Amino acid sequence: MRSRGTRIIAVTSGKGGVGKTNAVANLAVALSELDRKVVVFDADFGLANIDVLLGLTPRFHLGHVLFGNKSLTEIMVQGPNGIRIIPASSGLQRLSELTSEQRNFLVESFADLHSDTDYLLIDTAAGISRNVIHFLLSAQEVIVVSAPEPTAIVDGYAVIKIILKEEPSKTVHVLINSVQREEEAREVFAQINSVVRRFLGREVDYLGHVTKDPCVPQAVRSQVLVTSQFPEAPASRCFRQLARALMHQETVSAGADSLIWERLLNDWVN
Ligand SMILES: Nc1ncnc2c1ncn2[C@@H]1O[C@H](COP(=O)(O)OP(=O)(O)O)[C@@H](O)[C@H]1O
Ligand SMILES: [Mg+2]
Repeated sequence: MRSRGTRIIAVTSGKGGVGKTNAVANLAVALSELDRKVVVFDADFGLANIDVLLGLTPRFHLGHVLFGNKSLTEIMVQGPNGIRIIPASSGLQRLSELTSEQRNFLVESFADLHSDTDYLLIDTAAGISRNVIHFLLSAQEVIVVSAPEPTAIVDGYAVIKIILKEEPSKTVHVLINSVQREEEAREVFAQINSVVRRFLGREVDYLGHVTKDPCVPQAVRSQVLVTSQFPEAPASRCFRQLARALMHQETVSAGADSLIWERLLNDWVN
């Protein structure tokens, strides 16, 4: 049984360049291929964002919803396979300036997504700035992306620690990117999970791995997703596997109603 409502999942990492944006976009498409309705919220103000990855040039962003006269639907951009993208950019940095009226308007706009969105994937910036932490804590689930290098593992653990210290019951998934073989990902995951268990007394979930695959940068260069351009490439198979893994856990997710959106917004603003 599929649960009703939206699964809100923030995707993050300890350090940049580990493949978050690629993972978000390809996961979104893979979920969409499995008949899930997906919205991607670009919450990274940095460069090399999801619109660049997809060769899109959004005319508007969240700032136009807040301070212009646009609706959320008007600023959303269509991506491949019917995925919809909310370009956030500078709009986000001004969230704290909102009047309560504007804030309510935004909550209602997001709540409207609820009826036709199965997944809201939030692409966050790397690191543990206060801004990023808000997104992580307000989402129901977090995917921490890590590479197999020791530095990425240490930084990934640092993020997990912050999340679980503030919200011990949060579901934290771990995705290991750029590995040669699946066993390598499982070993890296086992290291992370044993530290989490020892120092935080909790467990994180192994979501899966993505193979290091030259087709990924090749697709990035042509501003097309690897899952679209090279559907049979090893990385594309991994993304489809990850989408299935997420879907297997659908029944445990709670449906997002406007209360959840309100909380989300309050967390971002405060
Ligand atoms: N599985 C992979 N195999 C090979 N290269 C990858 C893989 N995942 C990501 N990359 C490369 O790493 C670069 C950074 O990825 P990106 O998703 O932009 O990282 P982030 O969003 O974490 O900063 C991309 O240009 C991409 O080509
Ligand atoms: Mg990115």
